[in-house]
Amino acid sequence: MTQSGRTVIEEIKDRLDIVDVVSSRVELRRSGRYFKGLCPFHQEKTPSFFVFPDRQSYHCFGCGKSGDVISFQMETEGLAFREALEALAERAGVRLEAPKPRDPEEDTHEKRLLEINRLAARFFNHLLLSSEQAGHARDYLAGRGVERGAWETWLLGYAPRSWDSTMKFLERHGYSQQEIFEAGLVVEGKGGGYYDRFRGRVMFPIQDADGRYVAFGGRAIGDEQPKYMNSPDSPIFRKGELLYGLHLAADAVRREGQVVVVEGYVDAIAAHSHGFSNVVATLGTALTPTHVRMLSRLTRRVCLALDADTAGDAAAMRGWEVLRDAVQSRSVPIRTRGRVVASTRRADMEVRIASLPRGEDPDTLIRKSPERWRELIENARTVVDHFFDVVLAGTDLRSPEGRAQALAELAPVLADLGNPIERAHYESLLARAVGLDEHEVHAEVGRARRLRRSPNTSPAFASMPSVSQEELVLALVLRYPRLLEEIPEDFPDTIENAQNREILAVMARLGQEGLTAEQLSEAVEGALRQQVSRIVALADSQPELLSNEQPIELRRRLGIIRQRRLRELIHDHSILLKEAMDLGDSAGVRALLEAVPSLASEKREFDPPLSSYFKDSRER
Ligand code: UTP
Ligand code: MN
Repeated sequence: MTQSGRTVIEEIKDRLDIVDVVSSRVELRRSGRYFKGLCPFHQEKTPSFFVFPDRQSYHCFGCGKSGDVISFQMETEGLAFREALEALAERAGVRLEAPKPRDPEEDTHEKRLLEINRLAARFFNHLLLSSEQAGHARDYLAGRGVERGAWETWLLGYAPRSWDSTMKFLERHGYSQQEIFEAGLVVEGKGGGYYDRFRGRVMFPIQDADGRYVAFGGRAIGDEQPKYMNSPDSPIFRKGELLYGLHLAADAVRREGQVVVVEGYVDAIAAHSHGFSNVVATLGTALTPTHVRMLSRLTRRVCLALDADTAGDAAAMRGWEVLRDAVQSRSVPIRTRGRVVASTRRADMEVRIASLPRGEDPDTLIRKSPERWRELIENARTVVDHFFDVVLAGTDLRSPEGRAQALAELAPVLADLGNPIERAHYESLLARAVGLDEHEVHAEVGRARRLRRSPNTSPAFASMPSVSQEELVLALVLRYPRLLEEIPEDFPDTIENAQNREILAVMARLGQEGLTAEQLSEAVEGALRQQVSRIVALADSQPELLSNEQPIELRRRLGIIRQRRLRELIHDHSILLKEAMDLGDSAGVRALLEAVPSLASEKREFDPPLSSYFKDSRER
């Protein structure tokens, strides 16, 4: 199991279905896309407690309690975060590490590996810029249209064609061969001893989301094999968890509300050089659930720019059953050619596919015509539209067999659509395409739906959209501990991310006096460390605020979170109401209608308080 707590918590949430967990305390009845029962948190006779498998969350429209599987466990059993986690881990069959004190050794070790990589990146960069033997590397980059500005932005470099120059250089700076080996820069020779891993290659330093140098990709300059050589996985680098360029793209992704994922280093660089700053690259691998999770902190909209072969492979679409199986577990991998190119939680991420013209990759296309690239991304198709295109283009619709095949392949795709209106739209589209009656298509899709074992779906980036706002609040409080007193009592309950909730609890425990970045880092064990270091980094980047501005800024951020939550709630509520009416569920309708006044008053409460801002600034 991995060391990082993020993974453990996510793994637990991935493995457990909130419906199962809640069911062991509350008798739930399925009703459309949700389940409901009598609320365990307050006394009631008609059920207003709803569980949403899509989001892996619950909400009571009676008393307003809401949360995820962890908060459910905490609240119903009266447990602390850690205890709840332990109980759930056992249930999920996930091994939880014993809490252990921070190991300073380990920290400095990782730090040194990072230093080695950073130093090597500078070394390679220096050589690229000025060494004689890098002449062909400079020509190569220039020939590919990679400009000087980009050499600097991405700290591109050149690894000398030598067996030990890099190692010697690093040794001279005080690092041992063993450390250099662990950082991935040298390889162990057959007869013992080490030699440089990267020789005579153009170097792409790989930085993580925080901009730390964690690895390298080295491209051969001629036809040498392999074309790209990467650092091996190490304590500071896991290939499947890294998105090249994310540290540069994050702001643009947030701003534009969308991320574009390409496959190659050079593709990402070309995109950024032409002003497409919301582009990141996988390191030639498929998009992993971890990637999706990282991206989901920034945006819900992902556009995959796939080469024509990958995107248009009809055979891969026949792997839809695999996908459907995966729906029944947690995430939905989107496969092409047997590879998972994406994996998404259904309700929460919107994945679109831009398929590149044959023979082009983003690099070549962008350099030829940035305009066409822009259009391509703008016209990216939803996954469903894309599947439609691919399947319909790949079958002979004139023959009855072809039509039957198209129906058989697309019905399960449609069955998976949660939104009935959307489903109806595609049913009629499909009916027209295969020349069948809409009723027949509808029946086929219905069959496919029944085949799907549904209650077990458990997409839950539940909490993701507002995470970064939550993190900002924590960062602000860490920066200005006196704000601890200004946090409204009900705020902790509304934090969606379990780790953030726990961190706030730890902060409160430390109190105004004791709360510092060091104390906070000391106070958490393995599970939360990674998240805490994010918060600490964020805190450092907080603006300098006057003391009267601090609470105002806090309130502004809390307001954003609250607004978002409320909007979501009202949205859910209207959908639920419609579904309950469709289902003729009169008790459900009644419960939902009764919740309207409280939603409305909450909305009012939060709408006007511009005036209170002014009041505040006068008071302080
Ligand atoms: P591509 O083969 O599509 O290369 O691999 P590219 O990015 O277009 O490379 P150029 O344009 O020829 O320089 C895409 C990505 O897959 C990984 C790299 O991360 C590369 O950017 N890859 C590819 C490897 O790790 N090893 C390889 O041998 C090839
Ligand atoms: Mn390329």
